[in-house]
Amino acid sequence: MQKTQTYIQHHQNRFLEELLDLLRIASVSADPAYKDDVARTAEFVAEKLRAAGADNVEVVPTAGHPIVYGEKLSDPSKPTVLVYGHYDVQPADPLELWTSGPFDPVIKKTELHPDGAIYARGSCDDKGQVYMHIKAFEAMLAAGELPCNVKFMIEGEEEVGSVNLGAFLEGNKEKLACDVILISDTSIIDNQTPSINVGLRGLSYVEVEVTGANRDLHSGVYGGAVANPINILSKMIASMQDENNHITIPGFYEDVLTVPAHERKAMNEAPFNEKHYMSDLGIGSVHGEAGYTTLERTSIRPTLDVNGVWGGYIGEGAKTVLPSKAFAKISMRLVPNQDPDKITDLFARHFKAIAPPSVQVEVRAHHGGLPVVTPTDTPEYQAAAKAMEQTFGKAPIPQRGGGSIPIVALFESILGVKSVLMGFGLDSDNIHSPNEHYGLFNFYKGIETIPYFYQYYAELK
Ligand code: BES
Ligand code: MN
Ligand code: MN
Repeated sequence: MQKTQTYIQHHQNRFLEELLDLLRIASVSADPAYKDDVARTAEFVAEKLRAAGADNVEVVPTAGHPIVYGEKLSDPSKPTVLVYGHYDVQPADPLELWTSGPFDPVIKKTELHPDGAIYARGSCDDKGQVYMHIKAFEAMLAAGELPCNVKFMIEGEEEVGSVNLGAFLEGNKEKLACDVILISDTSIIDNQTPSINVGLRGLSYVEVEVTGANRDLHSGVYGGAVANPINILSKMIASMQDENNHITIPGFYEDVLTVPAHERKAMNEAPFNEKHYMSDLGIGSVHGEAGYTTLERTSIRPTLDVNGVWGGYIGEGAKTVLPSKAFAKISMRLVPNQDPDKITDLFARHFKAIAPPSVQVEVRAHHGGLPVVTPTDTPEYQAAAKAMEQTFGKAPIPQRGGGSIPIVALFESILGVKSVLMGFGLDSDNIHSPNEHYGLFNFYKGIETIPYFYQYYAELK
């Protein structure tokens, strides 16, 4: 991979400039107002894949946002790696909390990123990490050192649950046939401590609506005699965790697999400084399920969190009103062997059961996703571990992640292929939050490491 690495060094400034161009397009998948920008981003990615040397590049329309596909199939005797990532991003709001425009990338130095970090929505999640793969591919091809067949599938709906990608997998099993799926959409422990993600949580996401009276009322004339749906909703939400922060929905934990003591011991040996964690977040204490550590609470345990709540008057000044309705969006992160549909169902039943007769409730299900755990005794894990060891000078630590990438479980069930989650972000990069950033160190470390994955995978497979 020597020629590849030399090529990367010669072209590193151009690689960065191109990524900044990609970050300038606001590919917010959740908001229909950005539909054209999302489409332009897909075209941009396709164009860069073509320029890198990929064949049969296409922008495939779906019922939602398009999927970008491209490939380089040079030798059927070599293994085939499918690179998956997403070019869509989360909404950038609240805009006023950004120190520079979310789609106006700038490089700033920080304590954790002394070489500079790119501040922009999607810089880490996941445009910056997708772009590492396109550039590593370009470099290997230009250097004549591509050891595997490669397929790229970069989607535009990951941040909205990948709702159309399952059908694309079902309909294109042959085209997507591969030996392994390589994904960079997760984090490492820190820039001196590489890690590989060996698990993702699943997700059940619901929206609830609580209705009291059939219209807004004067809070003095009716207040005290008619249920206030915001008060009721607050109580209902509060009751869903007990004093030990266990979730009270009957049956919620029924299918949760118990993690053996030796595995829990091992995961708690990973470097983690709770004091730094708290001071970084500005919190006086961590908070979570009794009997579990912070590392366990964010990986092997399920959660229930309100993501948003609204209702009543939130404008300037005070309006005395007894609102008719209250709403909340609630996510539940799931662990093996919980099933998102079953959990959604249990939630809905419980939510209706605890509602007092003074209100009516409705529960609407959003997208969900299955949890995954990936083994470490596979050629793909070993290849990723060797690649990281080579470029970081240290063997990576296997660690389960708390986030979700719903399509990963479907890769296994539909295509019959396992994934390797070799991400390069940091948990502190503010993904989904104002001031998302991605270290230049991380961007370049990814481009440097990926070619070694291909090399070792071809050797070990
Ligand atoms: N890249 C993240 C998932 C992630 C981040 C996993 C860090 C592990 C560590 C992904 O883009 C994401 O945000 N997924 C959503 C899924 C949802 C929208 C269906 C999530 O986890 O909230
Ligand atoms: Mn992502
Ligand atoms: Mn994300």
